[in-house]
Amino acid sequence: MRAIGLLLLACAAIAQAPSYQPVGSVDQIMLAMSYPLSDALLYVERDPPKTDKDWTTLQYDAMMLAESGNLLMMPGRARDQERWIQDAKLMVDAGAAALKAARARDMQAILDLNDQIVTSCVTCHEDYRPSYRRRRQQQNAK
Ligand code: HEC
Repeated sequence: MRAIGLLLLACAAIAQAPSYQPVGSVDQIMLAMSYPLSDALLYVERDPPKTDKDWTTLQYDAMMLAESGNLLMMPGRARDQERWIQDAKLMVDAGAAALKAARARDMQAILDLNDQIVTSCVTCHEDYRPSYRRRRQQQNAK
């Protein structure tokens, strides 16, 4: 019984696989989504949201930052099924927390998430970006 269940699960996984069609590479997702969207949150004080529309835009930024983490977990992008997934999830969690704060229009809560957002980037870069750790020691930059 159990073996049949597993077999069915495996078939379902195979049947689903072709529906994913990665279009951008990991570094393109970084440049198009993770980088600008995290900046919108990290530097929110430079141009704080005032109108309803501004707050909605900030909510979308946070939501897309979180979703960019999900995109990294897709087959074809995930470098492995363990640490990479954990690291990407840090960005999903940080984005989801920022979305909650933006929905509540809680500026302080967004600012308080700065560390969590930066940590989500740095953790994966230290784990997977070649020579990132060395460069970081030299420049001490993000
Ligand atoms: C799950 C892993 C992961 C997470 C999370 C992650 N990155 Fe990356 N990032 C990478 C990898 C890997 C590269 C190097 C490109 C490659 O190897 O394809 C990279 C490269 C970059 C680059 C350079 C792209 C280029 O081609 O010049 C930027 C900018 C960047 N990341 C920004 C960010 C920011 C900002 C965050 C957090 C909000 C973040 N990344 C979160 C894995 C990650």
